[in-house]
This record gives sequence, C-alpha cells and structure tokens, in this order.
Amino acid sequence: MSTSATTIELKSTTEPLSAAERSAILADPKFGQYFTDHMVVIRYTEGRGWHSAELRPYGPIEIDPATSVLHYGQEIFEGLKAYRQADGSVACFRPEANAQRMANSAVRMAMPVLPEELFLAAIDALVTQDAAWVPEDPEQSLYLRPFMFSTEVGLGVNRPSAEYLFMLIASPAGSYFSAGKTVTAWLGTDYVRAAPGGTGEAKCGGNYAASFLAQAQAVAEGCDQVCWLDAIERKYIEEMGSNNVFFVYGSGAEAKLFTPKLSGSLLPGITRDSLLQAAADLGIPAEEGLISVDELREHAESGAITEAFGSGTAAVVTPIGGFRGKESEIVIGGGKAGPVTMRVREHLLGIQHGDVADSRGWLHTI
Ligand code: COI
Repeated sequence: MSTSATTIELKSTTEPLSAAERSAILADPKFGQYFTDHMVVIRYTEGRGWHSAELRPYGPIEIDPATSVLHYGQEIFEGLKAYRQADGSVACFRPEANAQRMANSAVRMAMPVLPEELFLAAIDALVTQDAAWVPEDPEQSLYLRPFMFSTEVGLGVNRPSAEYLFMLIASPAGSYFSAGKTVTAWLGTDYVRAAPGGTGEAKCGGNYAASFLAQAQAVAEGCDQVCWLDAIERKYIEEMGSNNVFFVYGSGAEAKLFTPKLSGSLLPGITRDSLLQAAADLGIPAEEGLISVDELREHAESGAITEAFGSGTAAVVTPIGGFRGKESEIVIGGGKAGPVTMRVREHLLGIQHGDVADSRGWLHTI
C-alpha cells in the first residue's frame, strides 16, 4: 500500500473472545494485562516506504534472533486512550498529538516517520473493530499502544536498520496507580534518566529500560515511583518514572499550577500540555519553569506549595502525597489528594468523556 492510503482492512479473523469473557475482564481490567481481539501491523522497507498494512487477530509475531531491535534497541512507542462517550459513541483524545510525538521520536532514533494519516487510519481501524472493548465505566478507558521497531536482520551497527514494523495493540485500562491512594515519589540521585543531547525527549523503550533500577530503588525505599532530577546538577525536578509532575501553589481562587519546563531531557507529555491549556477553563493560571529539590522543600514547608500531582495518559491525574530522598522527607498537603488536583482531574476526564465542551477540538470521534 502507499503512504496515502487511509483505510486498513481486516485481513482475516479468528474467533474473538465471547461477550461473557470480555465482560469478566472489563469488570476489573487493571492496567496493561489484557488485550483486545485484534492488532494493526504495517511494514516499512527502505526504498519502498510503508506497505502491507493489516488489521489482524491479536497474537505473537515471529522474529529472527538477529533482528536489530533485540540487539540495539531501536524502538519507540506511544500511549493514548479511547473513551466511551455519554451517547455510546467512542472518541480518542488528541491522537494527532501522539502521531506528531511519535514522528519526533522517530527522527531522534533515526527511524522512518509514519505519516499522521496512516497513524490515524490504524487507530480508526483497530478501535472500530474492537469497539466492544471500550469500557462503559467513566473511570476506565481503552489504552492504545502504537509502537515501532527495527526489523532488519544483522548485527552491523554502522547504520540504522532499513526495515521496521509499526504495530498497534489495545488494552482495556482501569487505574494505573491504586485508586484513591496518593503516590510517594523517590528523589533518586544515584541514577540519571536523560542528559542534554540524549534521548530524554523521545518516547523510546530504552528510556524505560534504564529507569527500572531506579524504580526498584524507589520501591525498596518505600516509595511508589522514582522522581528524576536533572543530569547535570542533580537538583532540578524533571519528571517521574511514568508521568510528568505538577505542583499547586496557593489555594481557592489564588491557586496556580506549576510544572517543570521542557528542558530537552523531559518527555513532552500530551496530558501535561493539555492541562497547561485546559487549566484556563477553570480560571487557574499555569506556568512552566525550574524547581529545585531545595525550593520544593522550602515551598512545601512554608505552605506555598499546597498540592502535587502526576500527569500522564496512563496516570491521568494522580495525587502525590510527598517526596522522599536520602536525607529529606517532604510532605505535600498533609499527604492527601488536594481539591485543585481533583478539580483538574475531573475537568480533564470530563473533556475526554465528552461531558465538558471540547472547545479545542481534541476529541477524534471514531
Ligand atoms: C503512558 O502514560 O501512556 C505511558 O506511556 C506511561 C507508561 C510507562 C505506562
């Protein structure tokens, strides 16, 4: 197929799960544990471009042991969600923004760019086919995971792979973190997520592989997630293991959102960007800037910072109760979810489920 094709047909099918089996999963989908009946696969070959797009039954793929991705990790991915709307229809949230971020990640990782129209065609095809998997419960959604990896067979490392596979899979999703509980973040200084000029801005698998040791340390220290600091001075807050981070200054009509600015090593979160824009709907100013651990401690102790939360596609808006480091314990808002966090969360989910006006045209109806 050429890159201008915008429909992807179902090639063949096997028996999907029964409605009863699907309902049992949707009763408690957790996160990333169950997958829908189908997936999309599109191939890329240098000189030929994107071709052989297929919607086919979900299942294993066979690859040669010398496939480039297994050795050199040329892999990028995205995360977005499809939401059940009040009228029963289904809409995805800002898929064009994911297509753009994936294109940026591809450029950084020397991979071909999947055109936006093909990215959207893949989303439309899979969500249409597996629409019964989009949960009705407003606290749940269908998580979509587009990803791309190098498939050329060979161990040479003097140039990027000449062949790639783009795939899209879907997984019904409940809460990423335990619902109703605040998260505690570990201010790790032993490891670095990303340095200037590195791959921090790209959504590549390697960034997450490199984070597991720090995440294990966070858990060993009794925390839920690692909170990364900048690589050079190891003092400025950057982001958390699986999401961006926001602070609330003040309260009531004086409340203001603050999030670390995109330094080149942070992941440019689409939920982060959406909150920076949508806070205005609630009359809440939102700013980006630098915040050091010392400033965080001072501002929390003085009461200037009243709340903190994580933002991400999987995390949505997750209240943070505090930060802990080797020598510090910073409690935010008494360790409880704050009212501004919950207002912002409800507003975002309202837009995503079509209960709040979508004034920015963010919903992509399937
Ligand atoms: C997402 O929120 O979509 C992510 O990619 C985070 C992931 C590590 C669960």
